[in-house]
Amino acid sequence: MISGISITLIVGGSIAAYKSAELVRELVKQGARVRVVMSDSATKFISPLTLQTLSDSRVANELFDAEREAKISHISLADTADVVLVAPASADLIAKAAHGIADDLPTTVLLATSAPVIFAPAMNVNMWTHPATVENVATLKSRGVHIVEPGEGELACGWLGAGRFAETEEILDSIELLTSKKDLTGSRVVVTAGPTREMIDPIRFVSNRSTGKMGMALARAARWRGADVKLVCGPTQIAPPFGVDVFPVVSAREMHDTVMEIVRSPVCPQQSTATDDARSKQFVFMAAAVTDHQPENQSDIKLKHEKDKGYALSMVPCPDILHELGQRRTEIESESSCPLKLVGFAAETGGQEEELLSWARGKLERKNADMIVGNFADDAFGKDSNRVWLLDKVGRQEEVATADKQLVADKIIKAALRV
Ligand code: CTP
Repeated sequence: MISGISITLIVGGSIAAYKSAELVRELVKQGARVRVVMSDSATKFISPLTLQTLSDSRVANELFDAEREAKISHISLADTADVVLVAPASADLIAKAAHGIADDLPTTVLLATSAPVIFAPAMNVNMWTHPATVENVATLKSRGVHIVEPGEGELACGWLGAGRFAETEEILDSIELLTSKKDLTGSRVVVTAGPTREMIDPIRFVSNRSTGKMGMALARAARWRGADVKLVCGPTQIAPPFGVDVFPVVSAREMHDTVMEIVRSPVCPQQSTATDDARSKQFVFMAAAVTDHQPENQSDIKLKHEKDKGYALSMVPCPDILHELGQRRTEIESESSCPLKLVGFAAETGGQEEELLSWARGKLERKNADMIVGNFADDAFGKDSNRVWLLDKVGRQEEVATADKQLVADKIIKAALRV
């Protein structure tokens, strides 16, 4: 998690330097300690005072600034960072870093640090695709530097093409990816998210209010921890996280078929740095609000209404995916060649905590799951935060107080790693 980590942000000389203000703001908002280093040319694009105010820390620019060196030396900017982030990274800064040149403060910090380094380049498309830059970027990558690839589109210089500074969200994602514990490397994590939809006719359907935020947060957290993530997602407005395989579905039947196909395929462990406990397992997080019933008949054409007349809709059960996974556990484990861990959700309305826990415990047993995440629909549906109770099959029970869904997702994954 970004919260609590120290980031030395090096701002290079690019027109995109003004976007570093938003980046600093977001990093600080998420709880990072940010110290900003600016190249001389960066100070021509954005005032150090802006970044100083947003980071609440003096911006460093001069290599031989006696006053600043006395308080915090250039070596400490390199040493105390958990991550050194170069954003935006200009072609010039990339070239110097690739060749070990240290003739100003940003390049000296880059040469002195042993922390993970991320470059988020921003430049004109011809500069980005120039063989010199391509070679320099390859050199940095070969030394383990993480590059947040620039996007394509209209560039500040008027050209169209690759070179656009990555979105803040993508840069934050790369920090999470680089700093998270990799205890899911070699494991596959299947997450279902969002609602499912059961069509009545070509334009009407039965569904629910789920937005998919909790499932997306779980998929993101699992990827940060190194898992191979498959996100099976019902209709939702939320953009999926970076770096996960997305399988869009509509109905419960489609979700069922997609999940079954994924979980039965062999899990191929990559070079694993995971602990023995976490190596090569398959986790399924059933965060989707799967419809329990579907119309018995689906009309091929839009149903016509008759004035002042209602109609009855006959509903039949949808497949219960979690239940089937629990029933077929042994068969799935043998086909996928690794242990299966099933985590279900119980979103309830009405009742008090005791009833919620008792319903959740019932689902844990009935569905042969390893863990159930109990929550109240009012705390969860459509919200950015959630409050949950985690109950596992060996009797552990833990309450996670109301927190951002990303933090809750992290706690859920940690608990799932214990079952
Ligand atoms: N689930 C599923 N397939 C369904 C319905 C639910 O896989 N057709 C999963 C959900 O994704 C969730 C868990 O089962 O992880 C519990 O879902 P929930 O709707 O709370 O429970 P139900 O079994 O449907 O029971 P009820 O609606 O009576 O509370």
